[in-house]
Amino acid sequence: MLNGKIAVVTGASRGIGRSIAASLAREGAEVIVNYISSEQKANEVVQTIKAAGGKAAAVQCNISDPVQSKDFYANIIKDYGTIDILVNNAGITKDNLIMKMTEEDFMDVIQTNLAGTFYGIKQVSRMMLKKRSGRIINIASVVGVLGNIGQANYAASKAGIIGLTKATAKELASRGITVNAVAPGFIETDMTDAVSESMREKLMEDIPMRKLGGTEDIAETVVFLASDKAKYITGQVICVDGGMAM
Ligand SMILES: NC(=O)c1ccc[n+]([C@@H]2O[C@H](COP(=O)([O-])OP(=O)(O)OC[C@H]3O[C@@H](n4cnc5c(N)ncnc54)[C@H](OP(=O)(O)O)[C@@H]3O)[C@@H](O)[C@H]2O)c1
Repeated sequence: MLNGKIAVVTGASRGIGRSIAASLAREGAEVIVNYISSEQKANEVVQTIKAAGGKAAAVQCNISDPVQSKDFYANIIKDYGTIDILVNNAGITKDNLIMKMTEEDFMDVIQTNLAGTFYGIKQVSRMMLKKRSGRIINIASVVGVLGNIGQANYAASKAGIIGLTKATAKELASRGITVNAVAPGFIETDMTDAVSESMREKLMEDIPMRKLGGTEDIAETVVFLASDKAKYITGQVICVDGGMAM
């Protein structure tokens, strides 16, 4: 389905990004597995993909740094000739109640989640515009749709990604480029491992399906959006959340 396509997945050393990278590779894409510090884990993702007959390479970059981001994308375009699919997945949380949240923690989350996504889009859009094709998939969150106590920075960053997705979709639509967001609900990863048991129980009450999602639920949605089957879908936010946002 994605044979010959070059895909970049940011934050693919763990969790949802890892699953997205594996699923895109399974469909035939050659995947650049980005990470910031987990070199060994990123290499393991690459080895797993290769063992299954796929193609992948691990590339370190702090996507929240505009200078590093510029070099990262320029080097990939130079080495691989193009980028067909960009999945802006890397993200962090620094939760606290607003009154206790430091300005630094607010800005760090905005810088990584929102500005990092913007930098990626900016670096690939010229090349995608020239070749009149491309897929950009941004990983938002149901928290960006609904808000959440203790996550003002994260909710703002993810709501920002939704606005960014729609604006970019409008700008690039006439050149055959689609831009969509996937908004995961509560998915089992390192990020949600950090949530306390009491918070977990409370969250479960908000999930109509009464269970957490798996990383593959997000990955399969991304594969669909990256595929030709989704060629007429742009500017959308697809919530994959067991019914949390409806
Ligand atoms: N898990 C959920 O329930 C859930 C729900 C809604 C949305 N999401 C979103 O889904 C995405 C993935 O979440 P996850 O749960 O899989 O997270 P995770 O397990 O914590 O993994 C985060 C990934 O992002 C990478 N990363 C963090 N900062 C980076 C930076 N500045 N530059 C490059 N890579 C960076 C990490 O790399 P290292 O391994 O090198 O640190 C890691 O690969 C995030 O955008 C998150 O907000 C998750």
